[in-house]
Amino acid sequence: MSSSSSRSTVAAAIAGVLVVAALCLHGATAQLCEDYYDDTCPDAYDTVKQVLIDAHQSDTRIFASLIRLHFHDCFVQGCDGSLLLDTVPGMQSEKESPPNNASARGFGVVDAAKAALEAACPGVVSCADILAIAAEISVELSGGPSWGVLLGRLDSKTSDFNGSLDLPAPTDNVTILQQKFNNLSLNDVDLVALSGGHTFGRVQCQFITDRLYNFSGTNMPDPTLDSAYRAFLSQRCPRNGDGTVLNDLDPTTPDTFDNNYYSNIEVNRGILNSDQELKSSPLAQGTTAPIVDQFASSQDAFFASFAQSMINMGNIKPLTDPSRGEVRTNCRRVN
Ligand code: HEM
Ligand SMILES: *[C@@H]1O[C@H](CO)[C@@H](O)[C@H](O)[C@H]1NC(C)=O
Ligand SMILES: *[C@@H]1O[C@H](CO)[C@@H](O)[C@H](O)[C@H]1NC(C)=O
Ligand SMILES: *[C@@H]1O[C@H](CO)[C@@H](O)[C@H](O)[C@H]1NC(C)=O
Ligand SMILES: *[C@@H]1O[C@H](CO)[C@@H](O)[C@H](O)[C@H]1NC(C)=O
Ligand SMILES: *[C@@H]1O[C@H](CO)[C@@H](O)[C@H](O)[C@H]1NC(C)=O
Repeated sequence: MSSSSSRSTVAAAIAGVLVVAALCLHGATAQLCEDYYDDTCPDAYDTVKQVLIDAHQSDTRIFASLIRLHFHDCFVQGCDGSLLLDTVPGMQSEKESPPNNASARGFGVVDAAKAALEAACPGVVSCADILAIAAEISVELSGGPSWGVLLGRLDSKTSDFNGSLDLPAPTDNVTILQQKFNNLSLNDVDLVALSGGHTFGRVQCQFITDRLYNFSGTNMPDPTLDSAYRAFLSQRCPRNGDGTVLNDLDPTTPDTFDNNYYSNIEVNRGILNSDQELKSSPLAQGTTAPIVDQFASSQDAFFASFAQSMINMGNIKPLTDPSRGEVRTNCRRVN
């Protein structure tokens, strides 16, 4: 192929992508798209961004907390804001389930973003889309990659407490993690890339004490945990101490979005069992371990995969059918 015809093939391919991205079909079979609010709320992204910048002034952890909300929203019933609903008689909220209760945070900042958007363009921007936008802004403002956020999700009218019991758990082994991700059409690259979300944010002692003192009921520490790091964590999280004490998920650069999560794992300093499993499990050899190695050696490779995997996660069961969803005016309750 001559270079000019290969250039025109590339140009045609790019044009094709642009055409697809620009098509914003509404209705039951609609696809998410980048320009969904361009006519109805053109400043939506910047409005959310300003709220996040303000919140970050007094809460350096907020960016990490917000991306986790998007993850926990998308994994239960799809990305539909179901996590944000408060409990009402007859429907217990996902936010009260064990993976979320006294752990998921940032709901007040989501409310602030929603209030700002309702003031600018009432009834237009869904709470599910606010979480997707906030996740991207949070990563970008922490030094990570940017990506074009796909939009056009509606908000659910239900919250699925039972569904949230199936969220990935810190004690899960790599096989269970693969099952939980594959179940949502996310592959091994998505699993390893998205786990890199643990490059910032905090974790309570209660989620690591089993690894420190009684791994898999052995009354011994997890043998894959680096001994100096174990000594450090044992000081912070004594055997019968306060389980709510916070630790950095990435002690090297606690608030920066970079690939140190993977370099930590390479030296047996993954903090959760679910983190270290991606490299150290016998079942990770030939599956997730080489992907950990790749991201540890190339931040560019990690960033490119992370951006794509966030789009993949944001596409889980999109709710676009107006007969089943709505744009909530208050993210905590149905209209
Ligand atoms: C692979 C399975 C995963 C497991 C088992 C897991 C588990 C956990 C646990 C136990 C915590 C600490 C919660 C607490 O102490 O209150 C946590 C925090 C966090 N997770 Fe994950 N997670 C997983 C995947 C993800 C994904 C896919 C993302 C985002 C892309 C993510 C982003 C975060 C962030 C940013 C925090 C810190 C939140 C904060 O400081 O408020 N995690 N995760
Ligand atoms: C949620 O956590 C709070 C504080 O730890 C506790 O008082 C409450 O009982 C928990 N709720 C549920 C539904 O477990
Ligand atoms: C949730 O699970 C519990 C225990 O299995 C069951 O009793 C309850 O009916 C379920 N709730 C819903 C709304 O499906
Ligand atoms: C992974 O965890 C599941 C559930 O706890 C267990 O049944 C399975 O045997 C574990 N797999 C390995 C390889 O340890
Ligand atoms: C897969 O998803 C279905 C519901 O969509 C759920 O019932 C099942 O428990 C999930 N399996 C795993 C391994 O999470
Ligand atoms: C260690 O874990 C096992 C299994 O979960 C449990 O039966 C045992 O009581 C634990 N030991 C201690 C000292 O907590």
